[in-house]
Amino acid sequence: MPEIVILAIESSCDDTSAAVCIDGKVVSNLTANQKIHEQYGGVVPELAGREHTKNIIPVVAEAIKKAGISKKDINAVAFTRGPGLMGSLLVGGIFAKSFAQALQIPLIDVNHMQAHVLAHFIDEPTPKLPFLCLTVSGGHTQIVLVKDYLDMQVIGETIDDAAGEAFDKTAKMLNLPYPGGPLIDKYAQLGNPNAFKFTEPQIEHLNFSFSGLKTNILYFLQKETKSNPNFISERLNDICASVQHTIISVLMKKIIKAAEETGINEIVIAGGVSANSELRKQLKIVGDKYQWNTYIPDFQYCTDNAGMIAITAHFKYLKADFCALDIPIQARLHF
Ligand code: KG4
Ligand code: ZN
Repeated sequence: MPEIVILAIESSCDDTSAAVCIDGKVVSNLTANQKIHEQYGGVVPELAGREHTKNIIPVVAEAIKKAGISKKDINAVAFTRGPGLMGSLLVGGIFAKSFAQALQIPLIDVNHMQAHVLAHFIDEPTPKLPFLCLTVSGGHTQIVLVKDYLDMQVIGETIDDAAGEAFDKTAKMLNLPYPGGPLIDKYAQLGNPNAFKFTEPQIEHLNFSFSGLKTNILYFLQKETKSNPNFISERLNDICASVQHTIISVLMKKIIKAAEETGINEIVIAGGVSANSELRKQLKIVGDKYQWNTYIPDFQYCTDNAGMIAITAHFKYLKADFCALDIPIQARLHF
């Protein structure tokens, strides 16, 4: 007889996702992506909120059905409290609160960034504590020292744009649709990473900066297209490979520094950009060189998903760490 059945909801940005976790095993994880943002080159918050409203009931119903359970089997409901877009968070949050109230079950609030890290506990092999996580997503770039499942410390982060944003904004300059990261990854595989040189930002300690790189790329493209209007289409693969090479080089140098400073050799990556094929490859190469144990999440658990919210909620459930029904949703939330 299963003891802990959790329904989890993720709606922090542009993906509506629901998952069911039974005794720490994610048994269903469904996501409705929002195609509507493609044409705008980025997520339009107001449209994202409306799409979540349309998607949430069918996605939750499907997750419950796929898990082979019924609503009365659920012991707790979890939701992403933040960080994220306020309108998007509100939809998932209000849904979860209503669900908890209607079924008279506990409510569990989850920090989205903590959940990206804990996605590593959905499947085997799992990293050993303590470990370092390079969390690279569309909104955040962090190096996290994970002391325990729910005890984490951000030891480095971006002071401006996130790594995913650098991918997405470059894609926009190249007239590629949102989200640009997967497309840059695809074209980069056919290009020369050393074709063009971009300036790597030099930021103190374990922090990152990507906004200068964005300007560097913009000026480069403006200059090149002035002399050759077809420059982007003719050299797309090389541009993508060179930009990707620069972003990954910055990320790898900082994680090497973090490993040296902390003496930790359990290294993991998480977040949407951890789906990048070159970053995954480089982590393995650098990991072998420095004798790290490296861990990379399954693709479905890199980008936003409710499976990671469910596993985080499972750890919180074990500590009876529940929240009040009137807990505020927070667009900015630290841990
Ligand atoms: O974690 P995530 O789904 O959402 C946030 O919490 O922000 O990350 C989305 C980000 C986007 O910037 C997207 O372009 C990037 O992850 N991304 C990638 C790849 N797949 C997704 N970036 C580079 N290469 C990829 N293959
Ligand atoms: Zn995310």
